[in-house]
Amino acid sequence: MLNPKVHELLNAQINKEFYSAYLYLEISNYFEDRNLDGFANWYMVQAQEERDHAMLFYQYLQNNDAKVTLEAIGKPDVQIETDMDALRASLKHEIYVTSLINDIYAEAYAARDFRTMQFLDWFVKEQGEEEKNATDLIAKMELFGSDPKSLYMLNQELGTRVYAAPSLVL
Ligand code: FEO
Repeated sequence: MLNPKVHELLNAQINKEFYSAYLYLEISNYFEDRNLDGFANWYMVQAQEERDHAMLFYQYLQNNDAKVTLEAIGKPDVQIETDMDALRASLKHEIYVTSLINDIYAEAYAARDFRTMQFLDWFVKEQGEEEKNATDLIAKMELFGSDPKSLYMLNQELGTRVYAAPSLVL
């Protein structure tokens, strides 16, 4: 049986990950309106990955006979007026999600819940990648974003991202 606090945080994370998917859908929507289809694709794939993250938490609770309680998903809390606003919102959000994963990990550690710690290990690594991706994209935009030809090429590059199911299987 899961520790009640660990259970509560794992359940809350389902909502946080679905919210992340919704946030990235909003960012994809912004880039679609800008006719930057490569950027829109990149964030659409990101949204799909977030939905997978939510389902992994859902499945983990189900597998451990722990009740899942689904809550309302909030409206994306982001003001996007420029491309860089969208990219910065993404990085800020990933840093926040990393802190949430760390909080669950800390509770699991305190409860000597080694199974949950092992489950979370994948997310700890994933968050490192997500923060790096968001940081790299900001760096590329700073370098190339103001030149239309370079922006076109960056858009082409981001358009090649394809969705892949998560490597973590429960
Ligand atoms: Fe599911 Fe981008 O963290």
